[in-house]
Amino acid sequence: MNNMYNTNKITEQLITWYSKHKRDLPWRHSKDPYKIWLSEIMLQQTQVDTVIPYYKKWLNKYPTLKDVAHAAEGDLLKIWEGLGYYNRCRNFKKACDIVLSDYKGKVPTDFHAFIKMPGVGEYIAAAVLSIVHDKSYPALDGNIMRVLSRFMKKKTLSRYNKKVIYNHICKWMKFGSPGDINQALMDIGSQICKPNQAHCYKCPLENSCRATKTNLPESYPTPKQNKPIPNYDVVTGIIWDHDQFLILQRNEMNHLGGLWEFPGGKMKNGESQSEALIREIKEECGLEVNVKSKIGSIKHVYSHFSIHMTTFHCVSKNNTIIKTTQPYRWIKPVQIKDLPFPKANHKLFSILNKQGWHV
Ligand code: ADE
Repeated sequence: MNNMYNTNKITEQLITWYSKHKRDLPWRHSKDPYKIWLSEIMLQQTQVDTVIPYYKKWLNKYPTLKDVAHAAEGDLLKIWEGLGYYNRCRNFKKACDIVLSDYKGKVPTDFHAFIKMPGVGEYIAAAVLSIVHDKSYPALDGNIMRVLSRFMKKKTLSRYNKKVIYNHICKWMKFGSPGDINQALMDIGSQICKPNQAHCYKCPLENSCRATKTNLPESYPTPKQNKPIPNYDVVTGIIWDHDQFLILQRNEMNHLGGLWEFPGGKMKNGESQSEALIREIKEECGLEVNVKSKIGSIKHVYSHFSIHMTTFHCVSKNNTIIKTTQPYRWIKPVQIKDLPFPKANHKLFSILNKQGWHV
């Protein structure tokens, strides 16, 4: 099967193409394992253009792994705010702590040691170790898988085919720098061999790519049917005590763990918005509230569901004694800048900034 590919020549074409056409990205100016690791964590599930300002801001504040280990998780989440998938940030912090305490601050160079770190899976370990140390590990993300499934004309990305693809890239890596090969394939995947449009005439793999020779390279691999995601109606309250309002910190284990939010929750069938809000606030923090004016509604789409959130000004009926298992704070609007909040809450803050913060 592999005799049909001239592996040595293809590797040379790939590397030559990369040296001429590689994207000038901030993390490509360094071989510092901490910086490459950070970039790969941020780039998981997130577009390059979105990551760049976050990457720069993070390194400005935390130029070394030691700085991350010495930082408070809340301050790190504040820098990460808006990037999403916050477990990435919390795991990276935990991993930096381990590297400092158990590895004298040196990021492990061994695949099996590195992959034990929180948040480091096969992809991250392969990407970091190939880019930093030129170790021969294919970094099989969605982009690279697509490029190779077209190159080898594989309709399905079964476990078996993934293994075939992995082994094929390993062969290329015998003839050229593994870090450059992974990064060349990343660039081809994102710039040329796109899911809905393959610009084959620009691709260094064109001559040997088997899908190019079909009428429809985009039909490899067979596109997945996107399942519709559920939507939840959520109500939240800004509960005032004079000029301060109440925020709760989300549980570490949950979606958006460690971030702050307003009390509230999902509506149940048949409930009005006020009924749901009164019930949720009582359940979450033991307060009985009067629901006042509506502030507004926003929609926010997460990876597996969307929310439609309506927020109301509220005041406590009797007192401000909180009964909750979550950490909570009373803050003034100016303190928003010091704490991490989900994007959905920032959409509400924007409405409040426009209409004024008062009840
Ligand atoms: N996507 C994931 N890792 C990347 C990298 N190192 N360069 C560009 N895009 C990427």
